Amino acid sequence: MLTQTQTKAKGLADLPSVVNDSLLALIALANADPRPDKIDVGVGVFRDAAGNTPILKVIKEAEQRLVDTQVTKAYLGSAGDKRFAELLRPILLGHHASDDRIAGLQTPGGCGALRLGFELIATANPTARVFLGTPSWPNHAPIIQSVRLGIEEYPYYERGQGIIRFEDMIAALGRGEAGDVALLHGCCHNPTGADLSEDQWREVVRVVSERGLLPLIDIAYQGFGRGLDEDAFGVRLMLDACDEVIIAQSCDKNFSVYRDRVGSLWVKTGSTSATATAMAHVHQRAREMWSMPPDHGAAAVHIVLEDSELRARWLVELTAMRDRINAVRQRIAAADSRLAFIGRQFGMFSMLPLSKEQVLKLRHDEAIYMADSGRFNVVGLSDDQIDRFTAAVVGALEA
Ligand code: LMR
Repeated sequence: MLTQTQTKAKGLADLPSVVNDSLLALIALANADPRPDKIDVGVGVFRDAAGNTPILKVIKEAEQRLVDTQVTKAYLGSAGDKRFAELLRPILLGHHASDDRIAGLQTPGGCGALRLGFELIATANPTARVFLGTPSWPNHAPIIQSVRLGIEEYPYYERGQGIIRFEDMIAALGRGEAGDVALLHGCCHNPTGADLSEDQWREVVRVVSERGLLPLIDIAYQGFGRGLDEDAFGVRLMLDACDEVIIAQSCDKNFSVYRDRVGSLWVKTGSTSATATAMAHVHQRAREMWSMPPDHGAAAVHIVLEDSELRARWLVELTAMRDRINAVRQRIAAADSRLAFIGRQFGMFSMLPLSKEQVLKLRHDEAIYMADSGRFNVVGLSDDQIDRFTAAVVGALEA
């Protein structure tokens, strides 16, 4: 006699619970806190001395031109705005801009570029392992897992001493095998602010090329560290040495168009024909996921970069954002010798050597909102919040 096993069909009510993305949850928590003197140094958005995240003047002008002159919103296709990618090309690739083995396309932010890059890798080599630094941006691991690639961690940062664990990093990457992926931060490391020096980049590039690893460089803050070219040093050095490189780029921060989702994905292979095939896969994956990227933000960036006067003014606004980031870093660093490391780091983030309990206590007692990991957005502080913030942090370090 046959035994019938009845398996109950699963429905939406059977879904397991999900842990909310910690950074997005933090935005909601900070917004809900009614205390007027709260300090939100959670998610990474630039703030000016008064604590605002203004729209760049050049973006406002470009948007006005768009309203005045745009005559259609007909589809552009899965590549998005091709001219946008062409204009970005020299800014990101520098002396590699004329290499026709490198192709790029517009994506919905840097996150879309990362997902698309990992989709491509999973299509080409589903058994590739991704070497992911600890710590890294909290959304890196979920994106990698979403395409079912395995993760190998490499040590990156020693939080207590504020230094890069460089020898450990190199040793771990040295255990990679041909076809494995090395996920690297181009500049302004998120969450630590600890960037590789030029010599360290040379060493990383050497290991990556010797081991035959595929580098995927996430560059979301170009221009926020030392300058546009300086911040692309690692990207360009990797392109000098490797035939296969993937780059996930974002304009969300350096054009301050966060919610408009403006990014790009770049793929280099050893030949123009292999690049064309890879890009055909990229376009297909993009079509499956979002069909085509949102236009508005990239169209505004396109207008800024196309117009020499607007472009020059963008550079001035970008420099002002960078100068503020570095000035806030110096002020925090000068407040206490235990915070001096913050003055030697770059970009929006640093990581304080605080336990989760200490972070939660600062949240509860002082209305200071930073990530549970101790990551804080340096430039989330308005000028008049810096002293209270550093005093509270020093107090927590001493407790
Ligand atoms: C961050 O790390 O705070 C930003 O990249 C925003 C995000 O999407 O997480």
